[in-house]
Amino acid sequence: MSQYTVLNPATEQVVRTVELTSAEQTDEAIARAQVAQRAWRDLAPGDRAALLRAFADRIDAHVEELAQLEVANSGHPIGAARWEAGQIRDVVRYYAAAPERMMGKQIPVAGGLDVTFHEPIGVVGVIVPWNFPLPILSWGIAPALAAGNAVIAKPAEMTPLTAIRIGEIALEAGLPEGVLQILPGKGSVVGQRLVDHPGVGKIVFTGSTEVGQQIMAGCAKNIKRLTLELGGKSANIVFADADIAKAAAAAPAGVFDNAGQDCCARSRILVQASVYDRFMELLEPAVRGITVGDPASEQTQMGPLISAAHRATVAAYVPDDAPVAFRGSAPDGPGYWFAPTVLAPIGLDAPAYREEIFGPVVTVTPFTDEADAIRLANDTPYGLSGSLWTRDVGRAIRVARGVETGNLSVNSHSSVRYWTPFGGFKQSGLGRELGPDAVEHFTETKNVFISTQD
Ligand code: TAP
Repeated sequence: MSQYTVLNPATEQVVRTVELTSAEQTDEAIARAQVAQRAWRDLAPGDRAALLRAFADRIDAHVEELAQLEVANSGHPIGAARWEAGQIRDVVRYYAAAPERMMGKQIPVAGGLDVTFHEPIGVVGVIVPWNFPLPILSWGIAPALAAGNAVIAKPAEMTPLTAIRIGEIALEAGLPEGVLQILPGKGSVVGQRLVDHPGVGKIVFTGSTEVGQQIMAGCAKNIKRLTLELGGKSANIVFADADIAKAAAAAPAGVFDNAGQDCCARSRILVQASVYDRFMELLEPAVRGITVGDPASEQTQMGPLISAAHRATVAAYVPDDAPVAFRGSAPDGPGYWFAPTVLAPIGLDAPAYREEIFGPVVTVTPFTDEADAIRLANDTPYGLSGSLWTRDVGRAIRVARGVETGNLSVNSHSSVRYWTPFGGFKQSGLGRELGPDAVEHFTETKNVFISTQD
């Protein structure tokens, strides 16, 4: 059996080795899930809800342990890691309220009664990337379980530790065996098998657009249900009438959170030309002031990148002749460090402007007017996130409606709220996660007509 050695990205030290699941073991897990799902589906709604609440309570008791594990495995600053561990608890608790509320409709028809039911799909495969192992796991597993599905989750090979612990915690909380299984392993083995196996009814995939395209093609063979959350190249649009000091102070967190390894990173700052110089003057101290270092320290705002290979990918966007306006700091020595970097002025065809870097690199580009800002923001195949800064309410609404993106914040860089819908336009995804409707996306609607004729 093959193994994966998990490294701490801040120290390059070995954290643990993990057994990788084979294709045959994946098939066995799918068979177990099919059996477990039938009993899970047949549980009284209140009993399923109670088990999910117990699961959330048990996660709550382990928030600190999960956060510390994420610091070691992913290099996330401890404050962020605590928020992430709290998020999986909150998402499970939010969807624990769903089983008793999965109401269908009664539709008026002649000659009888017509009602709809939301039936669970069966077995759901959740494929998770390495950047936010706990939150993204929760967005798939919680609504799927609440709807009466069994779930098989595959964490990214590099970041399996918190997901494995969540699988153990679920069993400790009383979730029946086989209802939630965590299979650490390779995407090309476990992930591919979940996509190909006819016993899996839906795939929830978060990751790169490239792999998402392959998964969509794979799902087509069985007309498998699919949700995709993919890449992004989001714009942060700053108008001249905005509170420029506030916009500049907030801009680093909008892109450098999680060292820029965030699908929602506002990695293209667009600034109205008349305030461009002022904005850059204010941005520089904000970027230089970011505390980059030991993720276990309470003061740290930004940790390392996930791996040496990923750091090399990010560094390729900042060659020696790159137009670096200014940079923050990063530690020397072991660890996959990369200093926050601001590129300006940058050509609109430069790879750093057009491609998702997934690291702490941001470009700043001037625009002339509202129409120009919307045109630049939309000049990308992606459409996941974004922000705009203005004091003009009409403009805020016009621009928010004009930008082709799934999630937008005005005068802030809001992070994902689990009780509001989340997902992308264009090549950033397909379908929506989270929010009040997510449970329905893990069901099939069944329409039943009952004749009332003698
Ligand atoms: P990917 O390389 O696409 O991997 C994502 C997941 O898919 C991993 O678990 C990976 O497993 C698995 N995988 C790889 N090949 C597969 C295959 N052929 N069949 C099935 N599964 C397969 O992405 P990443 O590098 O981990 O994550 C970064 C990307 O994710 C970025 O583009 C980012 O924008 C995107 N992302 C998007 C969002 C949202 S919500 N839209 C959130 C986070 C990240 P292994 O790692 O084991 O190979």
